[in-house]
Amino acid sequence: MTHQHPSTSSRLSPATYAVVAGRPDRADGAPVNPPVVLSSTYVGRGEVRPGDTVYTRLGTETWEPLEEALAGLERAAEPGLVFASGMAAVSAALELTRPGSRLVVPQHAYHAALVAAHRLGERSGVDVVEVDIADTDAVLAAIAGGPTSVVWLETPTNPMLEVADIRAVSAAAHAAGALVVVDNTFATPLAQRPLELGADVVVHSVSKYLAGHSDVILGAALTSSRELYDELRLRRDIGGAVAGPWETWLALRGLRTLPLRVERAQENAAELARRLAEHPDVVAVSHPSLPSHPQHERARTQMSGYGSILTLRPRGGRAGADALASAVRLWVPATSLGGVESSLERRRRFDSEAPTVPEDLLRLSVGVEDVEDLWADLVGGLAAAARV
Ligand SMILES: Cc1ncc(COP(=O)(O)O)c(C=O)c1O
Repeated sequence: MTHQHPSTSSRLSPATYAVVAGRPDRADGAPVNPPVVLSSTYVGRGEVRPGDTVYTRLGTETWEPLEEALAGLERAAEPGLVFASGMAAVSAALELTRPGSRLVVPQHAYHAALVAAHRLGERSGVDVVEVDIADTDAVLAAIAGGPTSVVWLETPTNPMLEVADIRAVSAAAHAAGALVVVDNTFATPLAQRPLELGADVVVHSVSKYLAGHSDVILGAALTSSRELYDELRLRRDIGGAVAGPWETWLALRGLRTLPLRVERAQENAAELARRLAEHPDVVAVSHPSLPSHPQHERARTQMSGYGSILTLRPRGGRAGADALASAVRLWVPATSLGGVESSLERRRRFDSEAPTVPEDLLRLSVGVEDVEDLWADLVGGLAAAARV
């Protein structure tokens, strides 16, 4: 069986490519969807040659359609690498840091990624430097301040929605001999393609928008460099954090509607952000679509959409935020993001969240429901917060 090659994507819009990528050949009687092969091992005799399918931890045709589809969407020259989770992909990419060198990370980012970076720092003598990645001068100074081998970007950041200048940071990092890894989970390749802006590696929590239905834990790493592909693949092979066949299948099925879901969710998010900004019971709202967002202009030029995560600080402080989360009926009070259903959570409910994230900050993952229903429910939640 052969699949669409990533290069096909350069001729098709992402909306089309998400539908056609990774399909089996159109032979008469062939299935329209790629099959799931449930086998841990493959028949083989004699010498193992590169590219042979021998053992599922090392590669299986069940991963390939999704890996090709993700590579096409991110415009990666190499096939994607799926991992057991977003964190497995993050950990593999963090290990690209050279022992004894500097790793520049955002001061706000997915908290487990920061924990992983600091643990790597302690174990491998890596100098982990946290910066405000929206402040390009500060990022450049951090790169210049030591022998930097990796600059880690998450943009927009989780949960503070800071936006980094990927192009400027990549140019400076490369001049200093460093690699740039971008966690593109929040933006998705529909809204932002970091490899085209100079980044070396993109990582994803496929568990979020790419799979899109809050029913899968999966991750991916993408690159256009054969050398980095080999490095990351070796880490997957020996680290063993490999994807299960059903998860891969579900993620590819979810990916088919990614463009539709992202378009609708982004529209909803921008509309809700606009309304929240005018609501008397809102202390602060942030979304890159708002002119009040400090990097609105950067997001407008770097991205082709503003994403569908927004943050909200309601009246009533921490207790108000908790009251809102308890009062809403449609929004799901739960962690994670990127599903078709709208969800929200107060991020500081996690001890490991950065102390600079306000206690009363709610992160809202806007889904694909009718915006009026979402708004009515939020207004009820804001009233509950204001009564605290
Ligand atoms: C931005 C970001 N990166 C990575 C991860 C980790 O992904 P996973 O939960 O699939 O391991 C998350 C999870 O919340 C995330 O939000």
